[in-house]
Amino acid sequence: MRRVVDIEQWRRLAQDQRDAGRRVGLVPTMGALHRGHQSLVEAARANGDYVIMTIFVNPRQFNDPNDLRAYPRTPEADRDLAKSIGVDALVEPTMAEMWPAYPDPTPTTVSVAGLGDVLEGAGRPGHFDGVASVVTKLAIVTGPSRIYFGEKDFQQLAVVRRMVLDLGLDVEVVGCPIVRDDDGLALSSRNVRLDELARSRALALNRALTFASELDGPASAMRAVMRATMEAADVVVAYAEVVDPTTLQPLDDGATGRARALVAGVVDGVRLIDNRAVELRRGH
Ligand code: PAJ
Repeated sequence: MRRVVDIEQWRRLAQDQRDAGRRVGLVPTMGALHRGHQSLVEAARANGDYVIMTIFVNPRQFNDPNDLRAYPRTPEADRDLAKSIGVDALVEPTMAEMWPAYPDPTPTTVSVAGLGDVLEGAGRPGHFDGVASVVTKLAIVTGPSRIYFGEKDFQQLAVVRRMVLDLGLDVEVVGCPIVRDDDGLALSSRNVRLDELARSRALALNRALTFASELDGPASAMRAVMRATMEAADVVVAYAEVVDPTTLQPLDDGATGRARALVAGVVDGVRLIDNRAVELRRGH
């Protein structure tokens, strides 16, 4: 596995692969790697890509300085794991190269209005501007054929798809299914901050989504059952929504067909998110 920190070396490495006729697959991460990240690398390998993984804890997408400070960092274990799962090149860019002005505000921002302002964006102002800006830079430097994202962060995936469409970026966005632990909890780098009790309460997010998906009812009934399920486990609900999978606009009870249920909640000071595809039926 190649390891790169320098932006010019990174650019050249990707260019060399393209010159050799290989397709480059980009897997952007913030490290603290787990099986969720691994699944993205596996998808890229299955497509035959030269896999470039980036690890960069992007401060621009953290609206809460405490969350940024508490974000887990496990560089040695990440390097070992990346190597063992077949990452071809691991890029760990420095802050000075990614955001030269930091900690002053970076003047250049990519913003996906609307999609980036609802759900996670409503509770975390500026979050998706930070995500869209960093993903744009990673994609420009790498020049990948494909870029891989997990459905775990469903809104992030929707924001990136829209950004790629609007900016005409020549890259295919590949969405990969959510990887869960045996108990159903969606894998997340933040899960290490949950103690045993908090973890058992956190299971209410997935349970809420399961109940919603089993409900033979309209969007409002799904919202109600999700909220009640999380509240019963003392999860502080940030939202429990049923939306159009592309526009992320809330659906009313007249809506039928495929939709996405998304939940967010805080357990013991740790903010968790999860989501699931649901099928809406007309209200009785
Ligand atoms: P991070 O949280 O490290 O996640 C990196 C990628 O792994 C994202 O595409 C995320 O959706 C995916 N992922 C995380 N947990 C997953 C799971 N349980 N199942 C499937 N995929 C999972 O998301 C980010 O970093 C950042 O916002 C980033 C895109 C790197 C920009 O800074």
